[in-house]
Amino acid sequence: MDQSDKKLNAAKASLEYIQDGFVLGVGTGSTIDFLLDLLPNIRQKIDKVVSSSMETTVRLESHGFEVTTLNSVGDLDLYIDGADEATKHLHLVKGGGGALTREKVLAGAARKFICIIDESKLVGMLGKFPLPIEVLPMAQAFVARRMVKMRGQPIWRENFVTDNGNHIIDVHNLQISNPLELEGRINQIPGVISVGIFANRPADVLLIADGEGVRTIGL
Ligand code: A5P
Repeated sequence: MDQSDKKLNAAKASLEYIQDGFVLGVGTGSTIDFLLDLLPNIRQKIDKVVSSSMETTVRLESHGFEVTTLNSVGDLDLYIDGADEATKHLHLVKGGGGALTREKVLAGAARKFICIIDESKLVGMLGKFPLPIEVLPMAQAFVARRMVKMRGQPIWRENFVTDNGNHIIDVHNLQISNPLELEGRINQIPGVISVGIFANRPADVLLIADGEGVRTIGL
């Protein structure tokens, strides 16, 4: 079974959590794309859908969904998204696709957050995947210097502008032994829009697809 099959299986497993009349939030990335392609099969269950990126919105609209804003729906019944790294404690690193800020807003607004991954994303400690940070363009060099002080190696994601008009710094070589503490510390740097550590609002459920099937950690 290849990685795409596992991503598809994780996406399929998450469908079970979608109940009739749900206001659903959806993330961004190649794993979520499998979910987006399955959603037309359960269209009648979904009352409203909110998207975390332009990329996801385009795909939803291509399937005939009308995408609603978070402002017009209040809280989400459920948010489903992928991750770049996840631990058994349900802490995540996200933002490989650059959509971390809107993803964090939707996760924060959700009564339940389900994260779908293939087994390659499950790690003992976060940090091997370069940590994405969305920054105000004018603060990019300043935030990068602060990250060097935190012993990271920041690399500017060249020729990339987020849906919010900002830049991304990818910070290499961090060993994130205390995700909650580091998330708070990076959030306090002026110019940081958001950091890709999801520990303050972790996932509630992690669905991990491997060669055997899909394992569940969490509720
Ligand atoms: C998007 O910004 C990211 O947070 C994605 O959710 C994450 O990178 C997972 O993407 P893949 O499913 O493509 O690995």
